Amino acid sequence: MRLTLHVNGAVHEIDVAPTLPLLAVLRDDLGLTGTRYGCGRGQCGACYVIADRRGVASCLLTVEQASRMEITTVEGLAKGDSLTPLQQAFVDLDAMQCGYCTSGMLISATVLLANEPVPDETAVRDALAGHLCRCGVYGRAIRAVLTAAEASR
Ligand code: FES
Ligand code: FES
Repeated sequence: MRLTLHVNGAVHEIDVAPTLPLLAVLRDDLGLTGTRYGCGRGQCGACYVIADRRGVASCLLTVEQASRMEITTVEGLAKGDSLTPLQQAFVDLDAMQCGYCTSGMLISATVLLANEPVPDETAVRDALAGHLCRCGVYGRAIRAVLTAAEASR
């Protein structure tokens, strides 16, 4: 099926099976490999993207559903070489180890800060709760989100 995807401000015409997960199309057809495959069941958070201003698991969204939405992946967060304050805080506070969970956490934290610019720690914990991190960087990730929020005051 011929579909049009809007991803990171660019328009992509693709010919794919409409039931394919958006995650597969992002990675395999568009080369946007910052969005990770973890569980494929909506349980690990590695594949999160922003779809119409909400964080969603791209392994559960079909590419046909996604074609009716504005999609932002982790590649679309920075403006050129300029990291967002949130991304910079993750770097500054070393809030990653292997980095496999990082793009998903950045997506959910970006959505949180867009809706609630100065969240309390509980809100940050809730926002990151769906993201499994086998390296255990939760504490640093939470501090990075709070630091980015504080910097935006
Ligand atoms: S790969 Fe989508 S939630 Fe795990
Ligand atoms: S930094 Fe390795 S899984 Fe989170």
